[in-house]
Amino acid sequence: MARSFQNYLGDLRESRVWQSIFRSGSGPSNLHRSQAIQQNLYLHLFSVKSRRSSLAIGVTWYLGTLSMVTFLILVATGIPLMLYYHPSVPQAYADMKDLQFAVSAGLFLRNLHRWSAHAMVLLVFAHMFRVFYRGAYRPPREFNWVIGVMLLLVTLFLSYTGYLLPWDQLAFWAITVGSNIMSAVPLLGPKIRFLTLGGNTVNANALLRFYVLHCVILPLAGGMLVGIHFWRIRKDGGLYSGKSGDESQPQVSQPHE
Ligand code: HEM
Repeated sequence: MARSFQNYLGDLRESRVWQSIFRSGSGPSNLHRSQAIQQNLYLHLFSVKSRRSSLAIGVTWYLGTLSMVTFLILVATGIPLMLYYHPSVPQAYADMKDLQFAVSAGLFLRNLHRWSAHAMVLLVFAHMFRVFYRGAYRPPREFNWVIGVMLLLVTLFLSYTGYLLPWDQLAFWAITVGSNIMSAVPLLGPKIRFLTLGGNTVNANALLRFYVLHCVILPLAGGMLVGIHFWRIRKDGGLYSGKSGDESQPQVSQPHE
């Protein structure tokens, strides 16, 4: 009789290679299952146990999870896009045209990246409104709200810096207007603008800075903040279920009133 997929999976988990990487596979007891979570670098960010009620779709609408999915799509499509793109003037514009008309599946890759970016901005805002609407920002989750605000800023900056990369008229003028708005910040405005553009006008220096921010600094910062965000959910007692008493699980002692 043909062996089931579960049998093959069981054998794989028992194998020496698997055990050397993950240390412990999932097993029949709660102890085995919690060890499988605790001994895996990625999974240990998540709670070993979750309340069934907090997993219902209506609680989160999976908006945070969907934000994460769009972030992963952006990383996965951004890396191949980097293989075809030079952050120099005027080559950047020619590369975009090549991607659109000459590279196999280039148009698909570019559009997937662009639409996922729009979707991520929308989803992150929707996720933030959901957290606010349900009051999930209250203690002990207030620090995770702060991490969330940083993630919102990283998302918006990723979107803004990516806008200049095609080096077309739309990009050039959008960044010119945006950087002029920056210079309206009291006292430090002109300095911030100079630092962002690498000069006084939108030129090749600005393109290089935006490229490094867009492809290296901001994705790394976003990845690290997402790691802290997920780890905090676990430390704050899992997702907010809306049940009374859920707020009273701070991990640090609160001063008496
Ligand atoms: C890149 C952006 C973000 C990603 C990938 C992300 C991801 C997630 C995920 C996967 C969850 C778990 C449950 C869910 O799906 O809602 C979550 C929860 C949470 N997020 Fe985010 N998030 C992001 C931005 C934000 C922002 C902008 C805020 C608020 C300013 C925020 C505040 C929170 C809080 C307070 C929780 C805990 C909610 C609860 O316990 O019900 N996050 N986030």
